[in-house]
Amino acid sequence: MFPRGESSGGARILGPAIRMRRPFLRKWVSRALGLAAALGAGAARGDDSTPAPVPGSAFFQSLGSNGRACASRHHPADGWTITPRGLRARFDASGGLDPIFQRTDAANCPGADVSTAEARRRAYSVLLARGVIRVTLPVPSDAEFTVLAVDDPHGCASPTALSVYRRPLPLTNFDVLGTVVWDGRHTVADRAVEDDLAAQAVEATLTHAQSPRPPTAEQVREIVEFQRGLGRRRREPSAANARTAEAVTRGEGIFKTRILLINGVGGLNDVLEKPFIVGSCATCHDTPAGVRRAAALLNIGVNDPARRTPDLPLFTLRCRATGEVVKTLDLGRALVTGACRDIGKIKAPVLRGLAGRAPYFHNGSAATLMDVVEFYNARFQIRLAPQEKADLVAFLSTL
Ligand code: HEC
Repeated sequence: MFPRGESSGGARILGPAIRMRRPFLRKWVSRALGLAAALGAGAARGDDSTPAPVPGSAFFQSLGSNGRACASRHHPADGWTITPRGLRARFDASGGLDPIFQRTDAANCPGADVSTAEARRRAYSVLLARGVIRVTLPVPSDAEFTVLAVDDPHGCASPTALSVYRRPLPLTNFDVLGTVVWDGRHTVADRAVEDDLAAQAVEATLTHAQSPRPPTAEQVREIVEFQRGLGRRRREPSAANARTAEAVTRGEGIFKTRILLINGVGGLNDVLEKPFIVGSCATCHDTPAGVRRAAALLNIGVNDPARRTPDLPLFTLRCRATGEVVKTLDLGRALVTGACRDIGKIKAPVLRGLAGRAPYFHNGSAATLMDVVEFYNARFQIRLAPQEKADLVAFLSTL
C-alpha cells in the first residue's frame, strides 16, 4: 500500500524527483500539483459563497448586434453554462429564434439553412444535443504540423481555419479559477486572472455577440466584476438521508486517495519525464472545486479518435520535425501555440455545480457523471467496483 499522503498530494509524489529540460513548464506543472498537498482536505469542503446576480450589470446586457448577452450562454438556470435541456426549452419557446441560436458559432456550420423551424432544428443539432459551441480558429502560421485531412461531418472544413466544438465553461468559483478558456488562449503568465477574463470578455463581445466595436472599459469591468462575485457552495446531503451521506463520504475518499496509475497524459507524464505517476483524482483536480491558476493543460485522452462519435470532426495532422501522423478530435492548445506537443491538450475545469450542468468534458462527450467515472475507470485501469462507481458519482453530484 501507498501511504495516504502520497496518493493525494502531487507534490510529495513528484516534488524532489522532478528533473526536466524545460524549466518553465516544470515550474508550471509542479506548482499546480504542489497545491494539492498545500491545500489538503480542507479545501474540498467548498467554503465559498453564492452572491445574488447584479441585474444592471453589463454581463446581462446585449452588447453586440445579435441580441446576445454573456448570460445567454452562461445561463443562471443552467449552472452558469448551457445545457441541452435548457437549450431545447429555449428552442421550443422561440422556434429556434432565441439569440443563442446564431449561425456564426452555434450552428453546426455557418452556412446552414435556418429558414424554417425544422431547418433550424437540423442546423443547431449538435448544440441542442451536447450544449457545444463551434469555435473556429486559424491554424497558427508557424505551426509545427501540417493539416493532412479534416473529416468534418458538417462540411465546415477550411484549409486555414478549423472548427472545434466545445462547451461554454461554467462561471463559478473565481477564487480557484486557473485557466480561463479550455485552450488557455487568454491566460498570460504572471498576469492577474481578472485581466485574462477581461481579454476573454472583449473577444466574446466581438465574436459571439458580433459587436462592431469592443466593449467599453466600464462594461468590461462590470462583466469581470460580476464573474468575480460568483461562487457556489457544495451541496451537502441532508443529515436525514444517512445512506446518501455515507455514499458521499466514501466517494470523497475514493476521489482523494484511490490510486490511479497516471500514464500517457500529455502535459504531465511527458513534462515531468515520468512514464507513470502514482496519483489520484486529486492530483489533477487539486481541490474538487478546481485547478488553480498555475494548472497545466493536459491531454487525458478525451480527444482520442477511438472516442469519436458521428457528429464530431476528426483531424489528421503531420508533425514536420518527426513525420509523426496524429489524429485528434480537437487540437486543443495546439490551435493556439502551433506546437505538436500541445495537440489535444485541454484545461481541467472547475468541478463545481456538476449535477446541474451535464454533459461533461469539453466536447460534451460524457452524458452523465457515471460516464465520466467509466471513462476514468477504463483510462487509468482503476478497477472500481459498481458500488465504488456509484459512491464517486454521489460525491461528484454534491460539488
Ligand atoms: C491526469 C489528470 C487528471 C486526473 C488524474 C483526473 N482528471 Fe478529471 N479532468 C482532467 C482534465 C484535463 C479534464 C478536462 C478534459 C476534457 O474536457 O477534455 C477533466 C475533466 C473532468 C470532469 C468533467 C468536468 C466538466 O466540467 O466537464 C470531471 C467530472 C472529472 N474530470 C472528474 C475526475 C475524477 C472523478 C477523477 C478520478 C477518477 C479525475 N477527474 C481524474 C484531468 C484529470
